[in-house]
Amino acid sequence: MTEWTPKTWRDKPAKQLPNYPDQDQLNRVEEIIGEMPPLVFAGEARNLKQQLADACHGKAFILQGGDCAESFAEFNANKIRDTFRVLLQMAVIMTFGGAMPIVKMGRMAGQFAKPRSSDDETIDGVTLPSYRGDIVNKLDFTAEGRAPDPQRMIRAYNQSAATLNLLRAFAQGGYADLNEVHRWNLDFIKDSPLSQRYEQLAGDIDRALTFMAACGITGEKVPTMRETDFYTCHEALLLPFEEAMTRVDSTTGDWYDTSAHFLWIGARTQDTDGAQIEFARGINNPIGIKVPPELEADTLIKLIDKLNPENEAGRLSLIARMGAGQVEEKLTPLVRRVKEEGRNVVWICDPMHGNVEKSSTGFKTRRFDNILAEVKGFFAVHRSEGTHPGGVHFEMTGQNVTECVGGAHDVTEEDLSSRYHTACDPRLNANQALELAFLVADELKALR
Ligand code: PEP
Ligand code: CO
Repeated sequence: MTEWTPKTWRDKPAKQLPNYPDQDQLNRVEEIIGEMPPLVFAGEARNLKQQLADACHGKAFILQGGDCAESFAEFNANKIRDTFRVLLQMAVIMTFGGAMPIVKMGRMAGQFAKPRSSDDETIDGVTLPSYRGDIVNKLDFTAEGRAPDPQRMIRAYNQSAATLNLLRAFAQGGYADLNEVHRWNLDFIKDSPLSQRYEQLAGDIDRALTFMAACGITGEKVPTMRETDFYTCHEALLLPFEEAMTRVDSTTGDWYDTSAHFLWIGARTQDTDGAQIEFARGINNPIGIKVPPELEADTLIKLIDKLNPENEAGRLSLIARMGAGQVEEKLTPLVRRVKEEGRNVVWICDPMHGNVEKSSTGFKTRRFDNILAEVKGFFAVHRSEGTHPGGVHFEMTGQNVTECVGGAHDVTEEDLSSRYHTACDPRLNANQALELAFLVADELKALR
């Protein structure tokens, strides 16, 4: 293969990149970001890769979750904390059910850039560039708002740094202590049947901890009982930003994209000869590619050859997003082929992006039943193929939103308007996220 540098993507056809009106300004911003401190360290990315290798071998399970798109407006400590604690709750539910380590990754601290189905949007005869996420332009439908502005990359960097700072504090500073499991239960879900199920589990954990403490095993002696690893991930879409964040790791001499621990390539930017794939092949972070139903097995193998030529376990995750109705039909041949070819990959289920629809009340939504069905179908495929289900990928929030219909609290199509806050895709609320975690836990338990 040809030589790689963080810039070689520039010689390839690029999709989904904004047309910045002022190239000089763009260059200046790239230089500024190139001088900013890294957000993550190469050593952390290597630890994550090791844990992904465990998932590849069926000895760990991945939980990825967070907003479809972070935004500048919806940025505050409570939101970060609430999403973090629902992820902790989900992880604890899954750890208990699956009796295996759950590796936690937030779609947080950098998930800003969005691919769009069309470059432009027309409203009442006026055509403007599409909104591509807060790192690129504004949602406001005005010529000024929709003009791509490189300065927004600096704001996104700063917001990511502040978010990650808080996440690190929560993960390492005592909040994630297993003795706090009861405290993670969010106020608005107390009194629900799910909350009772969670409280029961928290009680079981308490008893286990009391027993262990009596045996002399406490958080003071065993740091993993009071701290957790928490990793970040986002779509590697906006290449000028990702290139500027890519640095040589001084201990190994390898390139790492220091904007997040894990980066993935979306369904719309995975041409084997395209810019995003060129960029991803050279960074040493663990990476993912989305696997949509139209991806052919031969193309998938070509992508794997390109992205993981050494067949290193933990390097590459395949994030399948098929849609509930066709997960078994579409996923089975791909899983079978990858297995036949002996490729080491982590199969992750994204039950969100194949299940988007419009509600009768006009909202972009997802049915909880379809999300659940896709997760079940994903496990069924791996059961019948004798392969390891490696993880799940959700769009979710700790807020009490009404964006996906269904679930134990039964959000109806009429309810969607009451708390529909997403700037992009509809997210699971905390109740729906917990309900799914219990389902995944049951599936993991059945594997034991
Ligand atoms: C996403 O994860 O938000 C996304 C756009 O997914 P996909 O590329 O799978 O459509
Ligand atoms: Co999305």
